[in-house]
Amino acid sequence: MSGVTRLAAVIGDPVRHSMSPTIHNAAFAELGLDWTYLALPVPSGRGGDAVEAMRLFGIDGLSVTMPHKDTVAQAVDARTSAVERLGACNCVFRDGDRLVGDNTDGDGWVRAFELDSGLGLADARVAVIGAGGAARAIVEAVGRAGASEIVVVNRTTASAERAAALAEVARIGTVDDLADVDVVVNATSIGMAGGPDAEGIPLSGSWIGQHHVVADIVYQPRSTPLLQEAARRGARTVGGLGMLVHQAATAFERWTNHTAPIDTMTAAVLGAIPPDD
Ligand code: ATR
Repeated sequence: MSGVTRLAAVIGDPVRHSMSPTIHNAAFAELGLDWTYLALPVPSGRGGDAVEAMRLFGIDGLSVTMPHKDTVAQAVDARTSAVERLGACNCVFRDGDRLVGDNTDGDGWVRAFELDSGLGLADARVAVIGAGGAARAIVEAVGRAGASEIVVVNRTTASAERAAALAEVARIGTVDDLADVDVVVNATSIGMAGGPDAEGIPLSGSWIGQHHVVADIVYQPRSTPLLQEAARRGARTVGGLGMLVHQAATAFERWTNHTAPIDTMTAAVLGAIPPDD
């Protein structure tokens, strides 16, 4: 590092567990870029101050995680269409003097899914389980990717309706709709190691058939109970690591204007997450 080293950071609360410094610093090193990336704990309600600090300190890239995605979306100078629609921002980059808020979660999932599965989402019928921040970003991006149908299945109907409003082809549905789609993605935390429902599967697995591609955004364990059940029933599976890597890769490209070194970023994630037992 020197006097001209450029700085990127993730803000959140909590944030010390974040994998982002590992992923981005590995990518900067791989490309020989004089950048460094830190995790900065910022308490709830101070996301706007963090955007001001970006201006003050000349920070060139910001990742945004809980609980700041909404406040930062309000505090930036300009927003991508994804942020306009979602009201949530996970990445801030510079465009001249302006700070622009972007949301790379949904496009990161689409990019990872298409690469990992070899299946394009254009004209696909997709079901999204869940209606939280991650699910909303996926619905919005899958809509832009040209899916022919998106079914949102969630425990709480009101939030499912809000998520389904994010894409023209989206509607709310139930477990009965799952047999007839091509792709099903779990966008809840069910099945996450250390979470409240670590052994769980959303909506049992009786709907899973050999024609499905079943995806999970949970990446720890790498093979979740849902993905294990899907594999047992002969479906193809896509794990959650790709979304983690590709949402970071898209942010990296916004900040640096360099193509992200995906293999290096993936290796950094794999090194940081223990393999399943
Ligand atoms: P994130 O921002 O990470 O997506 P979130 O906003 O807390 O997380 O959203 C979590 C999603 O998982 C929600 O759709 C939640 O359902 P509700 O809208 O009904 O709360 C869903 N979810 C979490 N745990 C669940 C469980 N045990 N059973 C069913 N749905 C669950």
